[in-house]
Amino acid sequence: HRHILSSKQFDRQELHTLFSVAHEMRTQVERNGSIDLLRGKVMCSMFYEPSTRTSCSFSAAMMRLGGTVVNVDGSSSSVVKGETLADTVRTLGCYGDLTVLRHPDPGSATTAAKFSKVPIINAGDGIGEHPTQAFLDVYTIREELGTVNGLTITLLGDLKNGRTVHSLVKLLAYYHVTLNFVSPISLRMPEEVKTELTSAGIAFNEYTDLNEVIGDSDVVYVTRVQKERFTDLSEYERVKSAYVINNKMMSKAKTQMVVMHPLPRVSEIEPEVDFDQRAAYFRQMRYGLYVRMALLALVLGKSF
Ligand code: CP
Repeated sequence: HRHILSSKQFDRQELHTLFSVAHEMRTQVERNGSIDLLRGKVMCSMFYEPSTRTSCSFSAAMMRLGGTVVNVDGSSSSVVKGETLADTVRTLGCYGDLTVLRHPDPGSATTAAKFSKVPIINAGDGIGEHPTQAFLDVYTIREELGTVNGLTITLLGDLKNGRTVHSLVKLLAYYHVTLNFVSPISLRMPEEVKTELTSAGIAFNEYTDLNEVIGDSDVVYVTRVQKERFTDLSEYERVKSAYVINNKMMSKAKTQMVVMHPLPRVSEIEPEVDFDQRAAYFRQMRYGLYVRMALLALVLGKSF
């Protein structure tokens, strides 16, 4: 794939090939720290929105493959002077071999791809998609539970504005899963995402109360209520604490379930849960490094 814009560009087989490479790279990194595969290659990383994991893991992935990174953020670039997205990606394409882009507008990565002569990787386009997060999320489920098939997967929180769940359900649709969507009514999964699932023959159930499904879930995928997407902050205040995972809630869950979260979290998972072996969210970040290494090799045409 030249550009990585949506998770659904990958079919199930391509996804599993990516995961095999990620797994192999993980073994090599654990043994040697780095792999000399992308020496001489340069990745430009352009973030118009804040990021810790996506930005740092892409940079670390590039460097662990022997490549180098040019980092630029919206607030210190000529975007401040009014430069367009089109001109910005044209510029970065003159300097690097690929561009990783995070931007607040849905569809911005697709727009950027039209003007870029190097591959664009969508690192989050507003409430649209976050495909590389979805890849690492499915990788996490497979690493933690061995398979995706047969699982009951509960997506919890801000399903309206959370781009990670929009990308993730497109991939979960490749497997035999039971899907639960738990959110306040005002933060339900967007209609277009649900329509896409229904037309693919994928069933899901919607709830507002986590207690109805916590005991049956193999995966609880928690999301942050996305404050930055609210125009009415009083509405944010009303829904921000709708769900809290704490040890009491964990006591109602299966002993073999896992709790995931794309992070950052605010108050939706209490720190006491971090010490529960079922808390997979920090392992999930680490898996992201290997998945992004595999993705960089793929996009730059280097087999491993
Ligand atoms: N998961 C994720 O996208 O985190 P960052 O916003 O820190 O990149």
